[in-house]
Amino acid sequence: MAKPMTFTCTACGAAANKWSGRCEACGDWNTIVEEAPLSAGPARKSLGAQRGTAIRLSDLATEEAPPPRTGSGIAELDRVLGGGLVPASAILVGGDPGIGKSTLLLQAAASFARKGLKSLYISGEEASAQIRMRAQRLGLADAPVKLATETNLRNILTTLESEAPDLVIIDSIQTMWADNVESAPGSVSQVRASAHELTTFAKRKGTSVVLVGHVTKDGQIAGPRVVEHMVDTVLYFEGERGHQFRILRAVKNRFGPADEIGVFEMTGNGLAEVLNPSALFLSERDAPAPGSVVFAGIEGTRPLLVEFQALVAASPHSQPRRTVVGWDGGRLAMILAVLESRCGIPFTGLDVYLNVAGGMKITEPAADLAVATALLSAREDAAIPADTVVFGEISLSGALRPVGQTENRLKEAGKLGFTTAIAPARSKTGGGAGLALKPMGDLAQVVGEIFGAG
Ligand code: TYD
Ligand code: MG
Repeated sequence: MAKPMTFTCTACGAAANKWSGRCEACGDWNTIVEEAPLSAGPARKSLGAQRGTAIRLSDLATEEAPPPRTGSGIAELDRVLGGGLVPASAILVGGDPGIGKSTLLLQAAASFARKGLKSLYISGEEASAQIRMRAQRLGLADAPVKLATETNLRNILTTLESEAPDLVIIDSIQTMWADNVESAPGSVSQVRASAHELTTFAKRKGTSVVLVGHVTKDGQIAGPRVVEHMVDTVLYFEGERGHQFRILRAVKNRFGPADEIGVFEMTGNGLAEVLNPSALFLSERDAPAPGSVVFAGIEGTRPLLVEFQALVAASPHSQPRRTVVGWDGGRLAMILAVLESRCGIPFTGLDVYLNVAGGMKITEPAADLAVATALLSAREDAAIPADTVVFGEISLSGALRPVGQTENRLKEAGKLGFTTAIAPARSKTGGGAGLALKPMGDLAQVVGEIFGAG
């Protein structure tokens, strides 16, 4: 009998029974791939037909100690993990090739090993000699980390069974090959099967397993998103190639808050922690220029000041350009529309470029007002004073909505020498930050305040 074919979307993990150019579930193009069925298994019987083992039930109120955590000593990493490494947890670290995942994880393995965890680093991409050379360059050659180069998952699991490490790094999940699955390494089925075996091992033996996953250009882990569902924690390592800043971002964490970020700087000697990222992101700032605005943001539990830069220029094209780096293009279109219809400031015939300095990606709606201010400043060729920060959400009516953690934003700005904040009128502040707050009811008022025209 011919086996039924299965097809899976590499973007959203949806299953389909035929190939098509576009995934019906998520609408992405060219993401459907054929997958060998995981296992046909013995004749399928209803699970209820045969008795299993009764499971032990416990009360919701059962007292259980919080999971013991081990800190690496790298504060930026520990915070993103939710306070340290939890035993028996599976962690996926995704990122572009070449962004620094192997560097970060070798440094992490060395730090955990020095804290007494038995650490293994298994690479399917680099020879042990190569890794040793990198360790030397990073000043980690003396750390008690065990190395291996292997892609055969069966051999890896056998080794892990006998070694019983506290921490194992698998670099990368795309190079792993499970010999019971009939498809090439890196395929959806292989990635899924390998991740499943390794996460199961983590739960069974109490080992913390870190899987490295390469991400394709459009931001998806090559192979299936299904790995994200299998693991406890998903971290993304982001950054622009041309910049030295790297952001480790928790997008999912069963053992801590998501949205937490750690900031690193890529140096000649590996990744260095950036304990005061606001100062670093603003250190490259030039003299106040039209189009430049400092946004007082919050990333996870931590305030972060970043600079938005806008450029507005007469367009030679019939369809003017809208180019955004580090922010959402749809949100930019919305703000341009609000500026036009609520404040009477059109951007027709003008090219608009928006950039977040330092290669940072901002997703907070609280940045709306900073973006609008940067656009206005660029369009009117009027610089915003260098001692001013801006934050607030803009609604379609042009009204300004207060955002969370106003006090933390103001405190951080105060610490870095800012004296004025342009913010929504209804913001809740404790008033202890020492900043002069310029409360604004709507966008038209902001336009009037900054440019002296309504
Ligand atoms: P790597 O960790 O190999 O990236 P990934 O595993 O995500 O593919 O890092 C690749 C880049 O980092 C490489 O182009 C060189 C740079 N790098 C430094 O700048 N300094 C260093 O100390 C190290 C080890 C790498
Ligand atoms: Mg690598």
